[in-house]
Parts: sequence; C-alpha cells; structure tokens
Amino acid sequence: MATLLKAAPISQRIVKDLTYECTQLKEKGLTPHLQVILVGEHPPSVIYTRNKKKFMENMGATCDIHKLPEDISEKDFLEILKGHGSNPKNNGLFVQLPLPSHLSHIDVGQLVPPEKDVDGFHAHNLYSLLSGDKGDNSLLPCTPKGVITMLQEHNVTLEGKKVAIIGRSLIVGKPLTLLMTNHNATVTLCHSRTENLKEVCQNADIIVAAIGKARFLDNSFLNKDKNQILIDVGINHDESGKLCGDIDQASVEDHCALLTPVPGGVGKMTILSLGENLIQATKIQMENSHV
Ligand code: GUN
Repeated sequence: MATLLKAAPISQRIVKDLTYECTQLKEKGLTPHLQVILVGEHPPSVIYTRNKKKFMENMGATCDIHKLPEDISEKDFLEILKGHGSNPKNNGLFVQLPLPSHLSHIDVGQLVPPEKDVDGFHAHNLYSLLSGDKGDNSLLPCTPKGVITMLQEHNVTLEGKKVAIIGRSLIVGKPLTLLMTNHNATVTLCHSRTENLKEVCQNADIIVAAIGKARFLDNSFLNKDKNQILIDVGINHDESGKLCGDIDQASVEDHCALLTPVPGGVGKMTILSLGENLIQATKIQMENSHV
C-alpha cells in the first residue's frame, strides 16, 4: 500500500515559519499585503480566491479581493490592473484566471510588476527559471514550487531521477519541467500527442499527472517493481460530482511507493507557495526601497 503524501502536516509547519516572518516584517513597519483581482462570478474562482485570502490572513498578512463585473470593458480592466501594480501598498498582485472570454486574450502575467508577481507568470520570472534558478532569484509559479516543497519535505531527492510529467500547460507542466531540471532530474514532458505514454511512465521514478482528466492514470501506466512516486495535480469532478484527481487512487495505491491524495495534496501546497511568494515579494520590495 502506498504512503499518502498529505499536505496538511507540511503546511502546518511552514505556516508557522511564514507567520514568524510576517511578524518580523510587521515589526519593521511592513504588513505584507496581497491584492487579488477577480472578474465575474466563476464559482471555482470565487472559492479559490476566498481560500487564498483566508490563508494569507491566517499567517498574519492582509489580502483584498477586488471584484469586478463580468462585463467590465478591457480599457477599465487594464486601468484598474495598472493602478494596483503601481500602488506601493500592494506587495503581491495577481488576477485570478480564467478571465471572461472578451478579456482572455490579455496576457495578465506580463502586466503585473515582476517583483509583485506572486503567480510567477511574468517573463522576467520565467526567464530566471529557464536560466537555471530554483527560486532564489525569482518568484516561482506556485504549483511547481509546491510540488518541489512536498518532495523535499519527504526527503525525496530529484538528483538523477527520471521524471515523466503529463500535461504541457504554462501554469504547471512547462515550468515544472524546468524547475525539476534545475534540480538535476531528467524530465520527459508528455502530452496528448506523446507516443508510448505508458512506456515513458513505466520507465520513470516519478510521475506527475497534470492533464485535467478525471482518474486518467491507472495502474496500467506503472512499473510495479519500481516503487514509483505519483504526484496528482488534477482537480476534477467525476460523473457523480465527486472531487477527484487525474490519478485513479484505488487502482494505483497497491502498485506505487508514494502518492499525493486529492483533495489534501498538491492543491493545498499551491496556496502555501502563494504565501511563501508573498513574503519573498515583500522582502524584495523592502530591499529595493533601501537601495
Ligand atoms: N486559476 C487556476 N489556477 C490559478 C493560478 O495558479 N493563478 C491564477 N492567477 N489563476 C488561477
């Protein structure tokens, strides 16, 4: 039976550190503040942003969600985003995605100042990742960062490991490929056109499923003799509306060594990374203001 890699114990420990860091920053006169922009009433986005705000307040930071109407004009949206970007009170800033279709062509990550880009979507931060950074010199995208934290907390080293990542999104698959490469793993980034996907997965030490298909990966993708580690980034609802990941937990749990659950796995780590990024962003801005 696989050991479940749960986020809760890791999150509880790291939140204590973040709370301490917040207290220290407050003593220096700076309360870390996260500004969120939410356009419309997309139900999962309303829940995600509410959870993010709760997390920030729990660690001692402040957070404001600027709710904008679904039909806001592009001009007004861009003006508001620019205003939040230049407001010195905002240490971290992001626009919750997805945006309504009339705004979805806007590359919002490029419009957030890189030192406030707690999503890690700005070209400056992504280029740093491309150049070999592990997060010391830039803000990392939250889900990839959370996956690495989770593995490190369980003493899983990436050095020399073979990793198969399924899903080439800009938020998870591509940045995680770079980040794991920077940790000296050998990464194969798989997608819908990959041939011999099962074979690639069977050869891997670690498999990351980030495709958004409910219970896609079952035990036929595994090598039962390899003690593989399975990371589930999916957040889906099955036919009966039940929350589930991209991995069929019941099918794989007797055939791998470690497995992240859904819920209670990578999703929780993503929020934790956002908290870490807010502290990092606040410190960067404090240092810049002293130069
Ligand atoms: N929507 C789903 N995931 C994310 C994320 O990581 N950042 C933002 N801004 N929106 C999202």
